Amino acid sequence: MSEDQAALLAALRLQLDWGADEALAEAPPGIAPRAAAPALTGTAPTTAAPTGGTPTGGTAATPALRPVPPATQAAASLAAGARNLSELRQAMQEFAASPLRETATQLVFADGVAGAPIMLVGEAPGADEDRQGKPFVGASGQLLDRMLASIGLARGPQVYITNILPWRPPGNRTPTDAEMQLFLPFVLRHIQLAQPALIVLLGGTAAKTLLAAKEGITRLRGRWHQVTIGDAQVMPALATLHPAYLLRSPAAKKDAWHDWLLLHRHITENTITAKSGQTDSRH
Ligand code: URA
Repeated sequence: MSEDQAALLAALRLQLDWGADEALAEAPPGIAPRAAAPALTGTAPTTAAPTGGTPTGGTAATPALRPVPPATQAAASLAAGARNLSELRQAMQEFAASPLRETATQLVFADGVAGAPIMLVGEAPGADEDRQGKPFVGASGQLLDRMLASIGLARGPQVYITNILPWRPPGNRTPTDAEMQLFLPFVLRHIQLAQPALIVLLGGTAAKTLLAAKEGITRLRGRWHQVTIGDAQVMPALATLHPAYLLRSPAAKKDAWHDWLLLHRHITENTITAKSGQTDSRH
Protein backbone atom coordinates (compact mmCIF):
# COMPACT_ATOMS: atom_id res chain seq x y z
CA MET A 1 0.00 0.00 0.00
CA SER A 2 1.37 3.43 -0.89
CA GLU A 3 1.89 6.14 1.75
CA ASP A 4 -0.99 8.15 0.25
CA GLN A 5 -3.34 5.19 0.49
CA ALA A 6 -2.27 4.51 4.07
CA ALA A 7 -2.89 8.17 4.99
CA LEU A 8 -6.32 8.06 3.34
CA LEU A 9 -7.23 4.88 5.18
CA ALA A 10 -6.04 6.36 8.47
CA ALA A 11 -8.16 9.44 7.79
CA LEU A 12 -11.19 7.27 7.08
CA ARG A 13 -10.62 5.20 10.20
CA LEU A 14 -10.36 8.37 12.19
CA GLN A 15 -13.66 9.64 10.77
CA LEU A 16 -15.28 6.57 12.30
CA ASP A 17 -13.51 7.28 15.58
CA TRP A 18 -14.71 10.88 15.48
CA GLY A 19 -18.23 9.41 15.41
CA ALA A 20 -19.07 9.93 11.73
CA ASP A 21 -21.59 7.26 10.75
CA GLU A 22 -22.90 8.71 7.54
CA ALA A 23 -21.38 10.57 4.57
CA LEU A 24 -23.30 13.64 3.44
CA ALA A 25 -20.62 15.20 1.29
CA GLU A 26 -17.35 14.31 -0.37
CA ALA A 27 -15.26 15.93 2.34
CA PRO A 28 -15.65 16.58 6.06
CA PRO A 29 -16.73 20.13 6.90
CA GLY A 30 -13.92 22.64 6.94
CA ILE A 31 -11.50 20.75 4.75
CA ALA A 32 -11.30 21.15 1.01
CA PRO A 33 -12.23 18.10 -1.07
CA ARG A 34 -9.19 16.14 -2.11
CA ALA A 35 -6.99 18.54 -0.18
CA ALA A 36 -3.42 17.69 -0.87
CA ALA A 37 -1.30 16.97 2.15
CA PRO A 38 0.43 20.22 3.02
CA ALA A 39 3.67 20.40 1.15
CA LEU A 40 6.24 20.11 3.83
CA THR A 41 9.52 21.25 2.57
CA GLY A 42 11.23 23.96 4.72
CA THR A 43 10.61 27.39 6.29
CA ALA A 44 12.11 29.22 9.14
CA PRO A 45 9.95 29.73 12.20
CA THR A 46 7.68 32.69 11.80
CA THR A 47 6.95 35.33 14.33
CA ALA A 48 3.99 36.52 12.32
CA ALA A 49 0.56 36.07 13.77
CA PRO A 50 -0.78 32.75 12.62
CA THR A 51 -3.98 32.63 10.69
CA GLY A 52 -7.10 31.15 12.16
CA GLY A 53 -7.00 33.37 15.19
CA THR A 54 -4.95 36.05 16.77
CA PRO A 55 -2.25 34.72 19.03
CA THR A 56 -3.18 35.33 22.58
CA GLY A 57 -2.14 34.41 25.93
CA GLY A 58 0.51 34.24 28.13
CA THR A 59 3.47 33.77 26.76
CA ALA A 60 6.27 34.34 28.94
CA ALA A 61 7.67 30.96 29.50
CA THR A 62 9.58 31.96 32.58
CA PRO A 63 7.55 32.79 35.68
CA ALA A 64 8.07 36.40 36.58
CA LEU A 65 9.73 37.59 39.78
CA ARG A 66 9.61 34.35 41.69
CA PRO A 67 12.71 32.96 43.35
CA VAL A 68 14.11 30.24 41.14
CA PRO A 69 14.96 27.06 43.07
CA PRO A 70 18.59 25.90 42.78
CA ALA A 71 17.61 22.72 40.91
CA THR A 72 15.81 24.80 38.30
CA GLN A 73 18.85 27.07 38.03
CA ALA A 74 21.00 23.99 37.48
CA ALA A 75 18.58 22.78 34.80
CA ALA A 76 18.68 26.18 33.13
CA SER A 77 22.44 26.30 33.05
CA LEU A 78 22.77 22.72 31.78
CA ALA A 79 20.17 23.38 29.10
CA ALA A 80 21.83 26.62 28.02
CA GLY A 81 25.17 24.83 27.72
CA ALA A 82 23.84 22.27 25.23
CA ARG A 83 24.97 23.28 21.75
CA ASN A 84 22.90 20.72 19.89
CA LEU A 85 20.20 18.14 20.50
CA SER A 86 22.56 15.33 21.26
CA GLU A 87 24.26 17.44 23.95
CA LEU A 88 20.84 18.38 25.29
CA ARG A 89 19.83 14.76 25.50
CA GLN A 90 23.06 13.97 27.31
CA ALA A 91 22.53 16.87 29.73
CA MET A 92 19.01 15.66 30.51
CA GLN A 93 20.27 12.15 30.99
CA GLU A 94 22.83 13.36 33.52
CA PHE A 95 20.56 15.83 35.34
CA ALA A 96 20.01 14.07 38.65
CA ALA A 97 17.83 16.57 40.53
CA SER A 98 14.56 14.77 39.86
CA PRO A 99 13.66 11.53 41.65
CA LEU A 100 11.65 10.55 38.55
CA ARG A 101 14.93 9.45 37.05
CA GLU A 102 15.24 6.76 39.71
CA THR A 103 11.86 5.15 39.07
CA ALA A 104 11.72 5.41 35.27
CA THR A 105 13.31 2.83 33.00
CA GLN A 106 14.86 5.25 30.55
CA LEU A 107 14.86 8.82 29.28
CA VAL A 108 12.26 9.55 26.62
CA PHE A 109 13.65 12.38 24.52
CA ALA A 110 11.87 12.73 21.18
CA ASP A 111 10.56 11.08 18.06
CA GLY A 112 10.40 12.28 14.47
CA VAL A 113 12.96 14.38 12.71
CA ALA A 114 14.57 17.30 14.51
CA GLY A 115 14.06 20.40 12.40
CA ALA A 116 10.56 19.32 11.34
CA PRO A 117 8.34 22.38 11.02
CA ILE A 118 5.73 21.07 13.47
CA MET A 119 6.76 20.23 17.02
CA LEU A 120 4.27 18.50 19.29
CA VAL A 121 4.72 18.72 23.05
CA GLY A 122 2.91 16.22 25.26
CA GLU A 123 2.91 15.63 29.00
CA ALA A 124 5.14 12.74 30.06
CA PRO A 125 5.94 9.18 29.04
CA GLY A 126 3.56 6.43 30.08
CA ALA A 127 4.38 2.75 30.58
CA ASP A 128 4.77 1.97 26.85
CA GLU A 129 6.94 5.00 26.23
CA ASP A 130 9.05 4.18 29.29
CA ARG A 131 9.64 0.69 27.88
CA GLN A 132 10.37 1.77 24.31
CA GLY A 133 12.14 5.07 24.94
CA LYS A 134 9.96 6.99 22.47
CA PRO A 135 7.09 9.41 23.09
CA PHE A 136 3.51 8.53 22.19
CA VAL A 137 3.89 4.89 21.25
CA GLY A 138 0.96 3.56 23.34
CA ALA A 139 -2.78 3.86 22.83
CA SER A 140 -2.80 7.66 22.88
CA GLY A 141 0.09 7.68 20.42
CA GLN A 142 -1.91 5.55 18.02
CA LEU A 143 -4.80 7.99 18.19
CA LEU A 144 -2.35 10.85 17.76
CA ASP A 145 -0.95 9.24 14.61
CA ARG A 146 -4.46 8.86 13.20
CA MET A 147 -5.29 12.48 13.97
CA LEU A 148 -2.09 13.59 12.26
CA ALA A 149 -2.86 11.40 9.24
CA SER A 150 -6.34 12.89 9.00
CA ILE A 151 -4.74 16.19 8.01
CA GLY A 152 -2.02 14.63 5.90
CA LEU A 153 0.77 14.62 8.49
CA ALA A 154 2.95 11.96 10.07
CA ARG A 155 5.79 11.96 12.57
CA GLY A 156 9.07 12.13 10.66
CA PRO A 157 10.32 15.02 8.54
CA GLN A 158 7.04 16.87 9.06
CA VAL A 159 6.42 16.29 12.75
CA TYR A 160 8.76 16.10 15.73
CA ILE A 161 7.44 15.05 19.16
CA THR A 162 8.60 15.51 22.72
CA ASN A 163 7.11 15.82 26.22
CA ILE A 164 7.35 18.25 29.11
CA LEU A 165 8.81 15.51 31.33
CA PRO A 166 11.39 13.12 29.89
CA TRP A 167 10.88 10.54 32.66
CA ARG A 168 7.73 8.56 33.39
CA PRO A 169 6.01 9.65 36.63
CA PRO A 170 5.33 6.55 38.75
CA GLY A 171 1.89 5.08 38.07
CA ASN A 172 1.37 7.64 35.28
CA ARG A 173 0.35 10.29 37.76
CA THR A 174 -0.01 13.86 36.55
CA PRO A 175 3.24 15.83 36.80
CA THR A 176 3.41 18.27 39.69
CA ASP A 177 3.88 22.00 39.07
CA ALA A 178 7.38 21.71 40.54
CA GLU A 179 8.29 18.96 38.07
CA MET A 180 6.96 20.98 35.14
CA GLN A 181 8.99 24.03 36.19
CA LEU A 182 12.08 21.92 36.77
CA PHE A 183 12.07 20.55 33.24
CA LEU A 184 10.88 23.74 31.53
CA PRO A 185 14.43 25.01 30.73
CA PHE A 186 15.15 21.74 28.91
CA VAL A 187 11.90 21.93 26.93
CA LEU A 188 12.57 25.54 25.92
CA ARG A 189 16.12 24.71 24.84
CA HIS A 190 14.78 21.68 22.99
CA ILE A 191 12.42 23.92 21.02
CA GLN A 192 15.17 26.45 20.43
CA LEU A 193 17.53 23.81 19.04
CA ALA A 194 14.87 21.98 17.00
CA GLN A 195 13.64 25.26 15.49
CA PRO A 196 10.15 24.24 14.40
CA ALA A 197 7.90 26.74 12.63
CA LEU A 198 5.15 26.13 15.17
CA ILE A 199 4.30 24.16 18.28
CA VAL A 200 1.24 22.08 19.12
CA LEU A 201 0.57 21.79 22.85
CA LEU A 202 -1.08 18.46 23.59
CA GLY A 203 -3.13 18.80 26.75
CA GLY A 204 -3.16 20.83 29.93
CA THR A 205 0.34 20.08 31.19
CA ALA A 206 2.05 21.27 28.01
CA ALA A 207 -0.25 24.28 27.64
CA LYS A 208 0.03 25.35 31.26
CA THR A 209 3.81 24.97 31.32
CA LEU A 210 4.69 26.62 28.04
CA LEU A 211 2.07 29.35 28.14
CA ALA A 212 2.55 30.05 31.87
CA ALA A 213 -1.23 29.98 31.90
CA LYS A 214 -3.63 29.68 34.79
CA GLU A 215 -6.58 28.56 32.70
CA GLY A 216 -7.22 24.92 31.96
CA ILE A 217 -6.92 23.30 28.56
CA THR A 218 -10.64 23.58 27.81
CA ARG A 219 -10.26 27.37 27.81
CA LEU A 220 -6.86 27.42 26.08
CA ARG A 221 -7.58 24.94 23.30
CA GLY A 222 -8.79 25.83 19.85
CA ARG A 223 -6.76 28.99 19.43
CA TRP A 224 -3.28 30.16 18.68
CA HIS A 225 -1.02 31.49 21.40
CA GLN A 226 2.59 32.53 21.45
CA VAL A 227 5.46 30.90 23.27
CA THR A 228 8.57 32.92 23.97
CA ILE A 229 11.74 30.95 23.47
CA GLY A 230 15.01 32.29 24.79
CA ASP A 231 15.27 36.05 24.94
CA ALA A 232 13.26 37.11 21.99
CA GLN A 233 12.01 34.44 19.66
CA VAL A 234 8.26 34.10 19.66
CA MET A 235 6.67 31.01 18.22
CA PRO A 236 3.04 30.30 17.34
CA ALA A 237 1.56 27.57 19.51
CA LEU A 238 -1.79 25.85 19.13
CA ALA A 239 -3.28 24.27 22.24
CA THR A 240 -5.44 21.20 21.86
CA LEU A 241 -6.84 18.31 23.88
CA HIS A 242 -4.55 15.46 24.87
CA PRO A 243 -5.21 12.20 22.97
CA ALA A 244 -5.46 10.28 26.27
CA TYR A 245 -8.30 12.60 27.27
CA LEU A 246 -9.99 11.95 23.92
CA LEU A 247 -9.78 8.21 24.56
CA ARG A 248 -11.57 8.73 27.87
CA SER A 249 -14.03 11.33 26.54
CA PRO A 250 -14.82 10.50 22.91
CA ALA A 251 -17.45 13.25 22.68
CA ALA A 252 -14.61 15.79 22.89
CA LYS A 253 -13.21 14.54 19.57
CA LYS A 254 -15.33 17.07 17.73
CA ASP A 255 -13.46 19.87 19.52
CA ALA A 256 -10.17 18.19 18.70
CA TRP A 257 -11.16 17.95 15.04
CA HIS A 258 -11.78 21.69 15.04
CA ASP A 259 -8.28 22.24 16.46
CA TRP A 260 -6.54 19.98 13.95
CA LEU A 261 -8.37 21.79 11.16
CA LEU A 262 -6.97 25.07 12.51
CA LEU A 263 -3.51 23.54 12.27
CA HIS A 264 -4.18 22.27 8.75
CA ARG A 265 -5.39 25.70 7.67
CA HIS A 266 -2.37 27.43 9.18
CA ILE A 267 0.05 25.04 7.48
CA THR A 268 -1.65 25.39 4.14
CA GLU A 269 -2.01 29.16 4.25
CA ASN A 270 1.55 29.72 5.42
CA THR A 271 3.03 27.07 3.14
CA ILE A 272 4.86 25.55 6.05
CA THR A 273 7.25 23.02 4.70
CA ALA A 274 9.88 20.60 5.95
CA LYS A 275 13.47 21.76 5.90
CA SER A 276 16.26 19.88 4.26
CA GLY A 277 19.27 18.63 6.17
CA GLN A 278 17.30 17.52 9.21
CA THR A 279 18.54 14.96 11.66
CA ASP A 280 16.39 11.90 12.16
CA SER A 281 15.89 11.49 15.89
CA ARG A 282 14.13 8.20 15.71
CA HIS A 283 15.88 5.43 17.41
N1 URA B 1 1.18 10.85 26.91
C1 URA B 1 2.04 11.87 26.77
O1 URA B 1 1.75 13.02 27.09
N2 URA B 1 3.24 11.61 26.24
C2 URA B 1 3.59 10.40 25.86
O2 URA B 1 4.70 10.26 25.37
C3 URA B 1 2.67 9.36 26.01
C4 URA B 1 1.47 9.60 26.55
